[in-house]
Amino acid sequence: MHCTAFLKCLLTVCLINQVSGLETVTGKYGDTVELPCNNGHVMKGLVKWKYDVDGNILVKHVGQNASFSNDVNYKNRVDIKQDFGLIIREVTMADQKTFTCMVAGDDDILEYPVQLVIYKLPSQPQITNQTTAMAVGKLTKLAQCRTESANPAANITWFKNKTPLLSDGTAIKISTTVDVDKATGLSSTKSDLEYTAMKGDIGANFYCQIQHIRSPNMDSSPLIFTVNYPTEEVTLQVVSLGPFKEGDNVTLKCTADGNPPPSSYIFYMKGEKKTVENSNTYTLTNVTRESTGEYKCSLVDSEDKAASLPITVEYLDVDLSTTGKIFKGLGERFEMTIDVKASGTPQTSWRKGNIKLDSLPKFDKLKYSDSGVYECVVSMAGLKKTRTFELIVQGSPVIKNLIKNRGGSVNKVLTCEAEGFPKPTVQWSVNGTDFAETAYVDGKVTYSITIVPKVNLTVSCTVSNTLGSVNKSINVSPLVEDLTIAKQDQKDDYNDQATLAVGIVFGLILAVLAIGLAYWLYMKKYRQGSWKTGEKENGSAEESKKLEENQSQKADV
Ligand SMILES: *[C@@H]1O[C@H](CO)[C@@H](O)[C@H](O)[C@H]1NC(C)=O
Ligand SMILES: *[C@@H]1O[C@H](CO)[C@@H](O)[C@H](O)[C@H]1NC(C)=O
Ligand SMILES: *[C@@H]1O[C@H](CO)[C@@H](O)[C@H](O)[C@H]1NC(C)=O
Ligand SMILES: *[C@@H]1O[C@H](CO)[C@@H](O)[C@H](O)[C@H]1NC(C)=O
Ligand SMILES: *[C@@H]1O[C@H](CO)[C@@H](O)[C@H](O)[C@H]1NC(C)=O
Ligand SMILES: *[C@@H]1O[C@H](CO)[C@@H](O)[C@H](O)[C@H]1NC(C)=O
Ligand SMILES: *[C@@H]1O[C@H](CO)[C@@H](O)[C@H](O)[C@H]1NC(C)=O
Ligand SMILES: *[C@@H]1O[C@H](CO)[C@@H](O)[C@H](O)[C@H]1NC(C)=O
Repeated sequence: MHCTAFLKCLLTVCLINQVSGLETVTGKYGDTVELPCNNGHVMKGLVKWKYDVDGNILVKHVGQNASFSNDVNYKNRVDIKQDFGLIIREVTMADQKTFTCMVAGDDDILEYPVQLVIYKLPSQPQITNQTTAMAVGKLTKLAQCRTESANPAANITWFKNKTPLLSDGTAIKISTTVDVDKATGLSSTKSDLEYTAMKGDIGANFYCQIQHIRSPNMDSSPLIFTVNYPTEEVTLQVVSLGPFKEGDNVTLKCTADGNPPPSSYIFYMKGEKKTVENSNTYTLTNVTRESTGEYKCSLVDSEDKAASLPITVEYLDVDLSTTGKIFKGLGERFEMTIDVKASGTPQTSWRKGNIKLDSLPKFDKLKYSDSGVYECVVSMAGLKKTRTFELIVQGSPVIKNLIKNRGGSVNKVLTCEAEGFPKPTVQWSVNGTDFAETAYVDGKVTYSITIVPKVNLTVSCTVSNTLGSVNKSINVSPLVEDLTIAKQDQKDDYNDQATLAVGIVFGLILAVLAIGLAYWLYMKKYRQGSWKTGEKENGSAEESKKLEENQSQKADV
């Protein structure tokens, strides 16, 4: 029945109703797509799927199996669903066209066209022909970015630091081409970026982005280029820490602001020209005061690009008029002179042992205490020179004093005080005990000996050093006789006793005068007119004399 209606329509002029509105189905390349027939609202009759003008795919009656045409394009790739929807497997670009579902009813034929649109996602961006460096101010082809087999064709956009680059035809040139593969119908897009670098592009991040209507944007891996630019300025530095002194090593460093930096430089030193390869430093070893001067460095290929700086080598020469051990006689004149040659103004300080001196050593009359080690420190700009000398004041020995003292009931201690340099040694003319000596300080030493004199003795103390010998004698009497020979000894012992004796005598005279005055006043008051001066004065003088003698004897030893 349906078949007859269909044939009738085909043979006669039959009303074919074109359903308004073209439905579009989008399918992914290689996938299976389903084209609906009137949205699945076909309940009866005969359905035929066709394409283009005469492309037959299949025919199907309700409730019957479909009959497939022999169309090579679809024979093995299609199927029909219960609701007459057409299923096409493994769609390609060739399937991107309009398919029509014809439904033949009892009296009419309805057509439902469906447009199939195929899309294909682009491949990941690929960077090729990438350069490594770009020169400032020069249009350089940086790289090519490509993406394959897309439909529709993908766009490529170049970015620098997240900002899209736009072709301006001069500083930036972007040429994009799209190729359609004849066999597959898929498009490849490739884009070449030519770019004129600026110094500010050091470290800039370039990348390309694939944009496609059906997929999220895809960024290429970042591209970093070396930015090359010529040197504009050369700088010379001193790497070593100054100030410099003789014997130091001074390292100079030459730098240029170009990129890549030059691998070699020329250093100019005191009229000498030295080219260093694969380095930018030059070391002046063991500099001297003659090294002071202007130093320069330049590029090898353009010597006018240069820099210079002055270098000063500090020096400090210190010479004393005499050094080592200086022997001088007691009482002589001595003056040290110092000769300082320096690159600046040095500070000089003198010290003797731990004592700081105000000026350099100068003596009109040398004393033993002037002996010692003198040190002079001269310093300037990190330089320090120390010079020392030892002054030795020498003199033949002298005996300053020879005295005796009571050391016990029967002992006498003799003390001999000597001065001289080298240290005087002592020799006593008697045997004794308890030999002792004080420390030898400033040329002075005191020797002592204890003796027990049995008879009157003359003891001599002899002191000597390499420069001479001297002696002095003293009379010593036995202790038991001292009382009887008091006056004799008093003379010997004058040194230690005189002061005491004079004091006592003076005291006694004062006492006597006081008594005399008191007595005179008394006499004047109670016995006026009968007072006689001469007697009393005489008596008083005699009394004091006796007292004096007693006191002296007691004081003597
Ligand atoms: C329809 O096809 C199925 C399998 O291809 C077959 O088993 C069945 O007999 C067919 N029906 C008719 C009416 O030909
Ligand atoms: C890119 O490099 C390839 C070789 O790697 C070369 O054949 C091709 O010509 C280059 N393309 C351009 C545009 O330079
Ligand atoms: C690709 O570029 C064209 C032309 O500039 C533009 O119209 C289109 O929207 C772009 N497509 C995508 C996915 O960005
Ligand atoms: C200077 O350099 C020389 C050789 O390189 C080295 O032997 C010497 O120790 C250095 N002198 C100083 C003060 O660093
Ligand atoms: C440094 O130079 C001085 C004088 O020019 C010389 O006496 C000395 O030996 C040198 N020292 C070295 C380590 O070269
Ligand atoms: C010192 O004593 C010794 C014996 O011990 C003696 O031979 C010598 O004569 C004595 N010298 C003096 C100066 O008394
Ligand atoms: C010691 O000398 C004194 C006077 O210098 C003399 O009076 C005395 O007799 C002498 N004694 C002896 C034991 O010689
Ligand atoms: C003491 O010195 C004198 C000369 O100054 C000398 O004649 C005498 O022998 C010396 N006496 C002694 C004990 O050394």
